[in-house]
Amino acid sequence: MKKLITVLLILAVTASFSFAGPGGEKGGAFIGIAMPETHVLRWEKDGNTLKAEAEKRGYRAEIQYGNADQAEQNRQIQSFLTQGAKALIVGCVTDGVSSVVAEAARDKVVVVAYDRIIANSADYDYFITFNNFKVGQLQGQGIETALNLASATASAPKNITLFAGSPTDGNAFFFYDGAMSVLNPYIDKGVLKVVGPYPKTSADAGNFQRIATENWQAPIAKTRMENLLNNDARNVTLDAVLAPNDTLARAIIEACKADAKYRTKLPVVTGQDAEFDSALSIKNGEQYMTVFKDTAKLAAAAILLADQVLKGQTVNIPGAVLASGDLAKIGDTGKKVVKTYLLDPIAVTRSNINVPVDAGFYEAAEAARLK
Ligand code: BGC
Repeated sequence: MKKLITVLLILAVTASFSFAGPGGEKGGAFIGIAMPETHVLRWEKDGNTLKAEAEKRGYRAEIQYGNADQAEQNRQIQSFLTQGAKALIVGCVTDGVSSVVAEAARDKVVVVAYDRIIANSADYDYFITFNNFKVGQLQGQGIETALNLASATASAPKNITLFAGSPTDGNAFFFYDGAMSVLNPYIDKGVLKVVGPYPKTSADAGNFQRIATENWQAPIAKTRMENLLNNDARNVTLDAVLAPNDTLARAIIEACKADAKYRTKLPVVTGQDAEFDSALSIKNGEQYMTVFKDTAKLAAAAILLADQVLKGQTVNIPGAVLASGDLAKIGDTGKKVVKTYLLDPIAVTRSNINVPVDAGFYEAAEAARLK
């Protein structure tokens, strides 16, 4: 009996050690989670899911939000390093994060660029995101379908105005170029006319800057839309607006609604993120489409990636593809091509609004309002 008790005791002690998590210390090794901002809703959900996934795998984790301010985010990341972080999951504000990423590299801390590339850095190896070119293509295709561009004629062209995301965010360029890869052929044919600045691709830096929205701030997009309506778009009726995400889409729709011309029929407006307010707007026939990126899956995949790297295992992320060929550009920091894992985005219109709902993307009360 005594022997059995001793064996049980030993088992219990070993078990409590092995459940202590990676790193061995009580509570496991520490992962710092740095998210860029909260004015775009998704990041809070990203942060919470990342933390929960890290804890599920036995790590300690803390989230900080950078308030769209790189200096603030750098201080937060420095504090993670001071606390002995073994890995950092970074959704950066700008490439100004590269100085603290260099510090992390010196300390052999694993850095995973989360959703947004850390540009101008050669000090990290991994990036996990969605196929951001495809996000843009889905937006372009949404407009193509809604305006039936395939049957449009140069004698009765459709009118579009173009918006892009923040020029400090590498994703904004891919979103735009993806969308324009679909729309440019129609513009070339003269069946789609651009009202306002027209960068054919994001490489036209001057015009891209004119349609870009610094820090993804909704008030900037709203003011720009109001100005367009009163100036360049004054004598035309817009059929579509390319909007890069839901936060900006709703600001653009607000500006349109204040204009008598659009009171009964809004232009087709695209979006991204499947934010609840936009899903509701789509259901109510206002915003035309969004792009659903299942950020719960992205967060789980990012923690799995960090876990495998910390344990020296071969990285294998189910549900993500390693970017290669043309898509490898998504992982080009300008100083190095990092290993980039891509998840798949999904276009959502009124007809398949159930997709994010069924994926469990909304709270129960929200989901009920989308039925
Ligand atoms: C993300 C989008 C988001 C935008 C603004 C981008 O980097 O990929 O999902 O809407 O930032 O926060």
